[in-house]
Amino acid sequence: MSLYEMRQSYKLGSLLEKDIAGDPMVQFRTWLNEAMQGNLPDWVEANAMTLSTSDGHGRVTSRVVLLKGLDDGKFWFYTNYRSQKAQQIESNPNVSLCFLWQHVQRQVRIEGTATKAPRDQSVGYFRKRPHDSQLGAVVSQQSSVIDSRDVLEKRLDELKKQYADKEIPCPDDWGGYGVSPNRIEFWQGRESRLHDRLCYRKQASAWIVERLSP
Ligand SMILES: Cc1cc2nc3c(=O)[nH]c(=O)nc-3n(C[C@H](O)[C@H](O)[C@H](O)COP(=O)(O)O)c2cc1C
Repeated sequence: MSLYEMRQSYKLGSLLEKDIAGDPMVQFRTWLNEAMQGNLPDWVEANAMTLSTSDGHGRVTSRVVLLKGLDDGKFWFYTNYRSQKAQQIESNPNVSLCFLWQHVQRQVRIEGTATKAPRDQSVGYFRKRPHDSQLGAVVSQQSSVIDSRDVLEKRLDELKKQYADKEIPCPDDWGGYGVSPNRIEFWQGRESRLHDRLCYRKQASAWIVERLSP
C-alpha cells in the first residue's frame, strides 16, 4: 500500500471538558494508566516519550527516552549527563516531551523546563536498575564517537570481571532530569479528523484549560 492510501479512522474515544481533571498531572496519570491497560503486546512501552531539546543556536533534536517517575509535579527520566541531550539542556532548559499511544488513539504533548535530579534520587534509581543496565550506563560515554562495537564489548567484559561480586557505583555523569511542565496538551483522535485537543496552560500557579482546533 502506498503512503497516500494509508489512513486510520479514529473512533475509540472522546475528550470533553466535563470529563477532565483540573490538574493536568492527574489527567496524565489517568491517561497513562489507560494506555497501560488491556492485553497489550510486550513491545508496547507506554512510558516511552519523545524528548526534544535544542542547542543555543535553535537547532532542535529529538530522541525517545523512558518516563521513570511522576513525582513532585515533574516528568522524570534518566540519562548520561554528558550526552547530546544533556549538553543541549545545559544551554537551553526548555524542552518538549511527546507521548504517542496509538492503540488508544491518543497523544500527549508537554512543554516545560528540565532540571537535574538531586544526586540521592539518581543514586537511588540507579541501584534499582538491573545489573546489566548498570554496567551499560558505566560502559557508555553516551553520544561520543567510538571506533567500533568491539570497544564497548571489551570494556563491558572488563567491568563484568571488576564488579563480579561488588556493587556498581552510580557514575558521576549519570542521573535524572525532571521536566516541570508549563503546557500540556491532551489529544484524542475523533472521526472526520475533528479531533479533541484540550490544552492546559500554566498562568501564575493556576492551570487554564483551552480547546484547540484540530
Ligand atoms: C524505547 C527507547 C527507550 C529509550 N530510553 C532511554 C532512556 O531512558 N534514557 C536514555 O538516555 N536513552 C534512552 N534511549 C536512547 C535514546 O533514544 C538516545 O539514543 C540516547 O539517549 C542518546 O541521545 P542523545 O545523543 O541525543 O543524548 C531510548 C531509546 C528507545 C528507542
